[in-house]
This record gives sequence, structure tokens and C-alpha cells, in this order.
Amino acid sequence: MRPPMKVLVIGGGGREHALVWKLAQSPHVRTLFCAPGNAGIAQERIAATGAPVQCLPIGAEDLSLLLTWAQEHRPDLTVVGPDNPLALGVVDLFEAHGLRAWGPTRAAARFEASKVFAQQFMQRHGIPTARAATFTDPRQASQFVVSLNGRCAIKADGLALGKGVRVCHNLNEAQTTIEDFMIRRVLGEAGQQVVIQELLEGIEISLHALCDGQTVVPFPTAQDHKRLGEGNTGPNTGGMGTYCPTPFLDEAGVATVYEAILQPWLRGCRSEGIVFRGLLYPGLMLTADGAKVLEFNVRFGDPEAQVYLTRLQTDLLELLLATVEGRLASCRALQWSPSASVCIILASAGYPGGYRKGVPIHGIEEAERLPGVKVFHAGTARENDRFITRGGRVLGVTALGPDLSTAREKAYEAVRCISFEGMQYRRDIGFQALEWIRSHKS
Ligand code: AMP
Ligand code: GLY
Repeated sequence: MRPPMKVLVIGGGGREHALVWKLAQSPHVRTLFCAPGNAGIAQERIAATGAPVQCLPIGAEDLSLLLTWAQEHRPDLTVVGPDNPLALGVVDLFEAHGLRAWGPTRAAARFEASKVFAQQFMQRHGIPTARAATFTDPRQASQFVVSLNGRCAIKADGLALGKGVRVCHNLNEAQTTIEDFMIRRVLGEAGQQVVIQELLEGIEISLHALCDGQTVVPFPTAQDHKRLGEGNTGPNTGGMGTYCPTPFLDEAGVATVYEAILQPWLRGCRSEGIVFRGLLYPGLMLTADGAKVLEFNVRFGDPEAQVYLTRLQTDLLELLLATVEGRLASCRALQWSPSASVCIILASAGYPGGYRKGVPIHGIEEAERLPGVKVFHAGTARENDRFITRGGRVLGVTALGPDLSTAREKAYEAVRCISFEGMQYRRDIGFQALEWIRSHKS
């Protein structure tokens, strides 16, 4: 039996609410902190003790304050949710001070922080991806997009708060993007180098895999809905809804992806001396020509975490410790609930552009009284005895059901309990899966 543990989670969105909620169920967790957390996280209680989770007024990117707090309070494990603190090197910093942290080091986080690094790594190691090239010269970039007829994805090299990728369907869009990124520098230094990929067509899915540097353990597949509008139209967002599992890759399909993508990725890491401990989240396009990697992320997806962690039956703390300690080979068989999980994001009016904060939210408790429903908070705050909005993505209404369409109905039933002024959400989460299931039945 492990001694009771003190855990710190860094971040304050829906993903971190899901991480905290799941960690709070671990029999080994005695105290749980979240920096900065949110109003939903502050309501969680630790199963083993009944004590509340404590939110700390420290920003996820305030590395020096995080370190000061951790040196004083000595958490047994720090779990990093978002990509920015990873790219800033929070894991390296904690490890340098003898503090155990879950997540990749700064060097290993380059798979997400640098599109150029990730693309060139894939090319070096034969990982299936889009045909692509890297440019610092806008004229050469222009010539390349002409060769692609303007059908391409243009990606600024650095982290750009989700604004660094533009998908272009014609030359006009592509040339404007090159000008915006590389000449006008609308993203600042991030636009100094760009990766330009050919446009891939197919169904886009999210894969997640834990890796301890030696062993990769894939999760079932999930799908996010990144566009704001129904039918995958409108502007890109952080993600408007997810479900898990998807019907697009069966077990054999996941095994193929493991062989074609995860194994060469791991061999590549080893050969380049990169020790990746944490979670790898490749975004995949299932093309007519097989699965291809669009991008790598180095953390749980948000809102993928909400659907994965509601289905995960294995103790999350054990898995995260095994990742940090290089023991994943002994946890290959993760236990997943046979249920499907669906998460619907409720967003503020105006999101993903500017939005108003401080709008009162009604009906969360009522939604959570429905069986199998969990409402994860993202951008919320508490004002006296009520919840108010504080972000673009406000809540992730998540439901489990025996199959996708039942889980989806339950999630939408819960959504109908909740209201706030200007609330927007997609009514078609899971539509590609339902179409796929329908067409494969007949
Ligand atoms: P990324 O941040 O690289 O995943 O890009 C954001 C979104 O742009 C992805 O989720 C895809 O929907 C889309 N995208 C990126 N690269 C491509 C590509 N090569 N072909 C088609 N769509 C893409
Ligand atoms: N679900 C999209 C992301 O986390 O990047």
C-alpha cells in the first residue's frame, strides 16, 4: 500500500477539472491542490477523506510562484494540465529542485511547441504525415503553395494560442496567410518560420497515449469538434465537444496506428535522446491512404480529457506515477468502462472572439442530478452563492451511456437544464460517428 499522497494539479480549465475529479477518487490521494483551478474544481471532494480540493491563487504559467509554493508544501506529485507551462519548462524546474512532476520536459514538449521540430522529426523517422516543407522566406513559401494549388495548412512555428494554423482552400487564402504570418507578423515571432502541409481530407480523430520513455500505452480513439458551427463550419475553437470511443478505428485499426505511428515515434525519440514522459496526443486524419499525423500535442486534450477520464476505470494516480517512474510496461491493460462518453461544450456569446464575463449561470445542480451526468467547469467563477461565467468555454456537460446515441441524448438532456445569457453550443456533437454507424449498418 502506498503512503497517502499530496498532489498538485496545474491549470484551471475543463481538462484540469476532469483530472482533479478523477484523481480525487484515488484511494491514495489524501490532499489535492489545483493552481489556479476554477469554481467547479473548488467544489470537488477527496473520496478517501471527504476533504475539499483546494484552489491556489497562482497562475498556471507563474513558474516561480508555483515553485515557491511547491518547495514549501512538498507535493508528492505535480500534474501539469496545459501546454504552456510544459513549453516553459515547469517539469525541468520542479525536477531540478527534487520535486516529482508529471508531463514532458521542455525539450520533449517541443513536439507541440515547435511545428517545425515536429514536422522534421516525422520526416526523419518515416511517420506518416502530410507532404510538407518548412520556410523562413515568404517567396519560397509562396512558390510551394502554388505547387499545392493553394490547398494547404499553414502553421506558424511557435505556440500561438490556437491561432497559429490556417487551413486554406485556394491560392488567395494561402497567399494572404503567408503575408499575415511572415511579412505582417500578426503572430509576432511565431511567424518567422512556418510549416506548410498539403491539405489532407478525411475524418479527424484524437489519439492519446501515455509514454514513460520506454513504453507507449494507447487509449481508445476520441473525436473533438474544433469548428464553432454545426457541420464543422465557422472559425476554429479550442474544441466544442468530444466523444469516446469512435467507430472509425476498431482494435485492429488502433493496432495499425500503434505500429505505423507510435512505434516509429518512440524509436525516433530514443535515437535522438528524447525521454518523453507524459501524454502524447497526436491529431490524426484518417485519409484514403491511411492515418496521417496532422500535429502532436504533449498533454491531454481539452475536452478529450473529459470523455476519457469519465470512462477510465484504472486509478489515474497509479498510471501517472507509473509514467513518471518508468513502470508503464506493467500497466499495459488499462480498464475502460464499456459505456460511451459524450461532452458538450457550452460557450459564451462571442467565443472564440471577444466575450463578456460575469454572466450568471443557472441549472448546473439540476443537470448533475441526472444519472451518469457530470458537469465539468472551464471558465466559471463563484459570486456569492451562484456561478458566473469567466471564460470563452464555460462548461463541459458530460454524460455516459450504453452507446453513443444514448450518451448523446443524455448529454443534451443535461444541457437543456443549464442556461446563461448568450450561451452557445453545437447541437451535432458525434454527427460523423452516427452517420458512419448508420451507413455501415445497411
Ligand atoms: P493543428 O493545430 O496543427 O492541429 O491544426 C488545427 C486544425 O487545422 C486541425 O485540427 C485540423 O482540423 C486542421 N488541419 C491542420 N493540418 C491540416 C492538414 N494538413 N490538412 C487538413 N486540415 C488540417
Ligand atoms: N481538443 C483540442 C486540444 O486540446 O488541443
